[in-house]
Amino acid sequence: MLNDMQICDIAQKYGTPSYLFDLSELSSRVKRIKELLGEEVELCYAMKANPFLTFFLDEYVDKFEVCSFGEYEICKKYEICSSKIVYSGVYKQCDELMNTVKDDFDGDYTIESKKQFEELCNLIHETKRHARILLRLTSGNQFGMDEEEIIAILSRIDEMPYIEFAGIQFFSGTQKKNIEIVERELTELDAFCTKVKIETGKVITRIEYGAGLFVDYFGDEEADFDDLIKMREWLQKRQYHFVIELGRYIVATCGKYLTKIVDIKKNKGKRYCMIDGGIHQINYYGQMLGLRVPPVRQVSYERKQIGESEKWTVCGALCTVHDVVLREYEMQNPCEGDLLLFEMIGAYSVTEASFLFLSRELPNVLAIDEKGQVKVLRKQMSTAHINSGGETRKPVKKLLGVVDIYG
Ligand SMILES: Cc1ncc(COP(=O)(O)O)c(C=O)c1O
Repeated sequence: MLNDMQICDIAQKYGTPSYLFDLSELSSRVKRIKELLGEEVELCYAMKANPFLTFFLDEYVDKFEVCSFGEYEICKKYEICSSKIVYSGVYKQCDELMNTVKDDFDGDYTIESKKQFEELCNLIHETKRHARILLRLTSGNQFGMDEEEIIAILSRIDEMPYIEFAGIQFFSGTQKKNIEIVERELTELDAFCTKVKIETGKVITRIEYGAGLFVDYFGDEEADFDDLIKMREWLQKRQYHFVIELGRYIVATCGKYLTKIVDIKKNKGKRYCMIDGGIHQINYYGQMLGLRVPPVRQVSYERKQIGESEKWTVCGALCTVHDVVLREYEMQNPCEGDLLLFEMIGAYSVTEASFLFLSRELPNVLAIDEKGQVKVLRKQMSTAHINSGGETRKPVKKLLGVVDIYG
């Protein structure tokens, strides 16, 4: 664990707000997850949870679930072997798929609709290549297909010798607080596989399952890893090749977010503490208007937090009343320049928050290795050019109608 001095040094050297990913926490957690799943079960990292950690996870996970061409390009940048990629996604563009084919992609494509199946078949046929597919079963939303659609595809799959059916994929949602949901879903998948065998003669050997395991941000649960152990017990009793897709569960714990107190005030008797970050960079699933307290601590440089503990409303840098990060949060004598260190922020904050609001800078993304060395994965970056369609340093005098102002 980083001590306060190290935290302050990092904040001083790199500035705030910054994400800081602890690579030794990441590697010990993912190793533990692999160990608990056992050798028979493969682990797939759903990289949407945090693409910055893809590179570091390559040595630990068996597969990467990518959901867009952009994520695929990130994998290419990090030289992830394509055989490890599960190219997923509810919307796959033909030209992007064509680019993967040109790259001699050797991973799995998921199929989420009849149209996706037909488009991939045409593409593969034209290019005389080979493709391995997973058929995604829906859980009752826009993702995947009904059982009947999957059965219909499987009934004609032998007419397409260049398409190899690898198995089924299923993901119904994240933060499953009750492990019984996981057990029920797996039981239903097992029953579906039996139905497929009866109706098509096809034996499903691989189940790619997004378990959506729960991460305890607000101290509601007792022991970590209990859910994983219970799920493993279920998996061990079945004869499938399981690939477990996890995002949040792998990366949440390694992430920290450093933000600085920039202003202190009392408005109508209420204490407010302003920070240079905000809700556009902090995303704890289940948070409600700052009412729940995630793992966060006040860090002061060379100053003791003396004085009585008082309740503060911690607000971010966005010009909206909704930018309340913490309500009634107990702090001792907070001062301008103090830091707030948010923990367990490794999943989804770095990608899912509304970064573009108010054209504020994107935070630093830093990683710290086992030796305490900090690597800069992304420097603070302006968003003003994104919100104005290009370069901002060149003044634009008049903007008449919709014109190509930089053309
Ligand atoms: C298909 C699929 N698998 C896995 C995941 C990862 O979910 P989680 O972060 O809850 O582990 C997602 C998340 O959206 C997903 O869409």
